[in-house]
Amino acid sequence: MIVFFFFFFFSFCFFFFFNDTATTEIYTLSLHDALPISIAFLFTSQVQAGGQVEVLHWWTSGGEAKAVKALKEEFEANGGKWIDSPVAGGGGDTAMTALRVRVMAGNPPTAVQLKGPSIKEWAAEGLLGNLNVVAKAENWDAILPPLLKDVVTYEGDYVGVPVNIHRVDWIWANPKVLAKVGANMPTTWDEFNAVADKLQAAGITPLAHGGQPWQDATVFEVVALGIGGPDFFQKALIDLDDAALRGPTMVKVFDQMRRMRGYVDPNFPGRDWNLATAMVMKGQAAFQIMGDWAKGEFLAAGQVPGQDFLCAAAPGGGYLLNSDSFVMFDVKGDENLQGQRLLAKLILGENFQKTFNLYKGSIPARLGVPMDEFDMCAKKSSADLTATIKAGTLRPSMAHEMAVSRTFRGAIMDVVTAHFNSDMSSQEAVKRLADAVATAR
Ligand code: GAL
Repeated sequence: MIVFFFFFFFSFCFFFFFNDTATTEIYTLSLHDALPISIAFLFTSQVQAGGQVEVLHWWTSGGEAKAVKALKEEFEANGGKWIDSPVAGGGGDTAMTALRVRVMAGNPPTAVQLKGPSIKEWAAEGLLGNLNVVAKAENWDAILPPLLKDVVTYEGDYVGVPVNIHRVDWIWANPKVLAKVGANMPTTWDEFNAVADKLQAAGITPLAHGGQPWQDATVFEVVALGIGGPDFFQKALIDLDDAALRGPTMVKVFDQMRRMRGYVDPNFPGRDWNLATAMVMKGQAAFQIMGDWAKGEFLAAGQVPGQDFLCAAAPGGGYLLNSDSFVMFDVKGDENLQGQRLLAKLILGENFQKTFNLYKGSIPARLGVPMDEFDMCAKKSSADLTATIKAGTLRPSMAHEMAVSRTFRGAIMDVVTAHFNSDMSSQEAVKRLADAVATAR
């Protein structure tokens, strides 16, 4: 309002001054001319220098909120206007439903958190903006690891920008709880079962878990990698090979899932993943199997890795990759385009890559960001990532939408959840799994 009066007043002064003195004809304005100028000033002053974005994401837990706040602050510090559209729900399934509704209504958000094959699927629909201009200016070809470049490009064009690298196959533990039964972090699934049995005998919940399909699928894929190894994981959960889905290794995977079901407390149905993390923090359970966004929760609560909580790669070897990206929907308006470009540029900036990932529990998506300020778990993730890329044992996460399309992921998750919540035999589960995947083809 003050701004409006200022420009209104300025216009009048301008008009009377030049009219009265009539210094030169060129500067002579009528009231009719001055008013539109003042209004134009007014509107220019309200357009954000860096444009605007409406950001749809599902980062609402303690650690996630801190991380996304860092992005918002950096965007605003660069003159952008941030419109926050969070859709709560771990794993992003609710957010993806909200996105489809918005797109169908012809009103997509300008920037959206998206992952894996979905990025190419939305691009193939012709709905995503092209980010080549930013990519070229910021030299993304040189600063992005090839595997992430592949995720965010479609037919040679950049249509997304990666934020981070999360590892899924982690076990988190409370060392004080383990000490109660004289146990260390397990290094094999047999050891895991032995420690869990001991904990249970001592009246302690071995595994903190939230009974939501994506969380069941997270535990399932970690067990599948651990028991079957990276080659089996590739065949069964990426190539969706019928024999691997129906075979004896998959039976063993479901056997282990049955044991896992016995290690959770009775209140697990529907529990959010961050509440399961809180159980480990508070010593109400010993372990959680979850990606390193769980570390963001421990850190947000002021806990220190190696002291208050432990992190270890889940038994079995390999590395399950999950990477969050943002895509920019193809929308009209200079302000939107400006905002999208600024956001894309900042996301891969060195400063943001460090700040954001320190909060989020992940490691930078950009190559060459110094790791010295990162904690021991992040350093392990970074070292294991390099080693598994070299060894050819890195695999994209099925549960976190990096490996197969949502249709297949949905078919797999339904069977995993149905098995976890019933007394279905492992034989029955593999049959249903292979059949569900075949039907989805
Ligand atoms: C994952 C996502 C992470 C984290 C987690 C829990 O799919 O990649 O960034 O947010 O869900 O919501």
